[in-house]
Amino acid sequence: MARANVALVKYWGKAAGPGRQPSNTSLSVTLDGLLSAARVEAWREGAADRAAWVPPGPVADLRRFVELGRRRLGITYPLDVQVTSNFPVAAGLASSASAYAALTTAMAAFAPEPPSTSLLAVLARHGSGSACRSLLGGFVQWRPGDDDGAVTQIAPPEHWPLTILAALTETGPKRVPSREGMRRTATTSPFFDAWLAAGRTDLSVVREAVASRDLSLLGPAIERNALRMHATALGADPPLLYWEPATVSAMRAVWRLREAGVPAFFTIDAGPQVKVLCEPGDADRVTTALTAVPGVVRVLRSRPGDGPRILSEPPLWVPR
Ligand code: PMV
Repeated sequence: MARANVALVKYWGKAAGPGRQPSNTSLSVTLDGLLSAARVEAWREGAADRAAWVPPGPVADLRRFVELGRRRLGITYPLDVQVTSNFPVAAGLASSASAYAALTTAMAAFAPEPPSTSLLAVLARHGSGSACRSLLGGFVQWRPGDDDGAVTQIAPPEHWPLTILAALTETGPKRVPSREGMRRTATTSPFFDAWLAAGRTDLSVVREAVASRDLSLLGPAIERNALRMHATALGADPPLLYWEPATVSAMRAVWRLREAGVPAFFTIDAGPQVKVLCEPGDADRVTTALTAVPGVVRVLRSRPGDGPRILSEPPLWVPR
């Protein structure tokens, strides 16, 4: 089982060359309320892997991942895999991050040798880049590289018990998957280099804000970073607009809360959903304001959460 994460400093763009390295360092917080579970069994019936999402999802991707994972982890027999999440999948809520982190963790329990941290991070990244950040709890940094220090926890979940609200907007037309969105942005947006340069400054501010638990420093930096990511994506050809009318209304609702003295700050990934950070004492007021936004259908509440957990070990008859 693993949890979703939300990036406070976004990963948007892959470096040229092999290995799916990110163009920039990102920093996220793992969310305790949004979970994915992967059930993995050695499949004695068949010669090929079996893979399913519940509810249904992109199964060819999942099967490819299981095949790659078995090769990297040295698992020589087919697996039967099922992945499920407790929140809407493919809605721009990082469901693929928690799903592939859960699956990586569950498959690792079948490996004949305990895999290194870096092997797990590289593997998770093949499912979805941000999945490697869900391999750890709390506040997590991911920088380019394949070594053990590429994905690190910079603070545990209890370091800063913030509230993170996810305002789900009505699902609009299907968004462009982040893999394609990043490729298009990096290759066609004239703002891409400026995005990378600004991201370096955002990262150092966010690191300092997390270290000192300073929401008045963190909040403006995460909003800036998210808006800059969307600005560079808007500059792509053809342009990438991930927002719906309700997305913009929710952003304005957050700004109105701030004008009224409530320190709440938003961030948005490659979809129409708006995530809002605030102090736990303000969570009810912020939830009420977000729920009142036309087009917002649900508000999910989280706080910083732990890394993945093995819920039950593979049975002893499984060859290791
Ligand atoms: O993990 P991917 O490949 O789906 O990309 C994630 C991209 C963003 O969610 C927009 C940003 C991030 O760092 O999570």
